[in-house]
Amino acid sequence: MSEARIIDGKAFAAELRGRIGGVVAGLKREHDLTPGLAVVLVGENPASQVYVRNKNRQTAEAGMNSFHHALSAATGQDELLDLIARLNADPAVHGILVQLPLPDQIDAQAMLDAIDPAKDVDGFHVVNAGRLMTGTGKPLVPCTPLGCMMLLREYAGDLTGKRAVIVGRSNIVGKPMAHLLLGQHCTVTIAHSRTRDLPSECRQADILVAAVGRAEMVRGDWIKPGATVLDVGINRIEMAEGKSRLVGDVAFEEARQVAGAITPVPGGIGPMTIACLLSNAMTAACRQHGIEDPVV
Ligand code: GUN
Repeated sequence: MSEARIIDGKAFAAELRGRIGGVVAGLKREHDLTPGLAVVLVGENPASQVYVRNKNRQTAEAGMNSFHHALSAATGQDELLDLIARLNADPAVHGILVQLPLPDQIDAQAMLDAIDPAKDVDGFHVVNAGRLMTGTGKPLVPCTPLGCMMLLREYAGDLTGKRAVIVGRSNIVGKPMAHLLLGQHCTVTIAHSRTRDLPSECRQADILVAAVGRAEMVRGDWIKPGATVLDVGINRIEMAEGKSRLVGDVAFEEARQVAGAITPVPGGIGPMTIACLLSNAMTAACRQHGIEDPVV
């Protein structure tokens, strides 16, 4: 069998950001509306600092307002709740993202549930999670699964009747991804670290989504020939001479010999997540102003 098509998430995300920039310009011109995204970072987690810097830069590049709030690692829950309440009430802020993980003294889900669901661009509030699960109303959908679905639409076509296996059961990726795939009429399995015979579960998958955070755990012989493989993992592994490199949850070189299409790490799902955050901020701004959802 020939090698897998490499799904170029980096190029797809760049095009998507370009289209978002076009819609944002139109919102300014026709509605005098500039979408605003507030990002809250508590503490100094280096990976979070990199993500947040990229988010802020790309928000500004798309023509949106970017509001950055950096709080010390010692911030208490009440102080963070106060900030969230102010952002909820601020008409210039249409989207609020509280970067995870939060320090131990803070109850993360309580913070996420304090965000106005209309401004919850992460889609982590129970109201948005519930809307997605029940297929009712118009949820804001978590960014990484939303990016995965956009790539599947482009690379896997009609998903009806396909078998999808998701490895990982997080609220951020695994669970919302399962509901999005169900919505496209897939037969969905959520597998995880305690699944019995994980390789044979994965071998059933026409669509395999790896989101466990374990470097190169999914091997080439776990993959059904011709499957579409989405690798959500971003793991830094140490190399010789103090160097390191990023790898996914899938052993890429093995997997590309078997899969029909596969996302690389880096340059696959990662860039899609931020592009989808911008898309959600724009959608949230439109909904708050009674403007029809933009199509990008
Ligand atoms: N930390 C890692 N990924 C995410 C994400 O998608 N949203 C937030 N808020 N924090 C994260």
